[in-house]
Amino acid sequence: MRNLVFLFSVILFVSCNSSEEKEIVKNDEEFVFDMYEPSEMTHLMLSMYDFNEKIKKEIIAGNTPDKFPKEFLDIFTAELTDNKPYNDIFKAYSKVYIDNERAIFDGTSEIPIKQRYNNAINTCISCHSTECVGPISRIEKLLIK
Ligand code: HEC
Repeated sequence: MRNLVFLFSVILFVSCNSSEEKEIVKNDEEFVFDMYEPSEMTHLMLSMYDFNEKIKKEIIAGNTPDKFPKEFLDIFTAELTDNKPYNDIFKAYSKVYIDNERAIFDGTSEIPIKQRYNNAINTCISCHSTECVGPISRIEKLLIK
């Protein structure tokens, strides 16, 4: 019972599917059923993660990625866990994130690509610090040092 209370308080604080939360569910032997069912937004976030990890490698290798993935625009419509409604902060961060991600592919920009890439990743982190703090340490690994 104590574990259950702990689990719910974690969910309350994190308010999204953080990896820490999943670990707690997995490690808790008394807690048998799996509450975790990834939302559309979670799937999108995971593909955003993989994509940025890939272009990070390209940028470090000296290549310039040239195609903004249009499916990222789904961030404005993808269903959140438990059909959580979109709030204004979320919409505002989504727009800034999309603008910053798009800027990575702007061949005419005078800002160095590494900086444009890190800007986009920092917007992931800003939104996460208001909406969903769990994955932040994972996202920080995407930054180019
Ligand atoms: C506009 C706010 C916002 C932005 C920008 C954003 N995220 Fe998220 N992210 C969320 C929310 C909210 C969730 C939880 C989704 C849900 O519960 O349906 C989430 C979930 C995640 C998850 C957890 C998936 C899981 O395993 O449960 C990862 C990883 C993630 N985001 C990475 C990223 C990365 C990488 C970026 C930038 C490329 C990014 N996010 C940009 C709000 C954002």
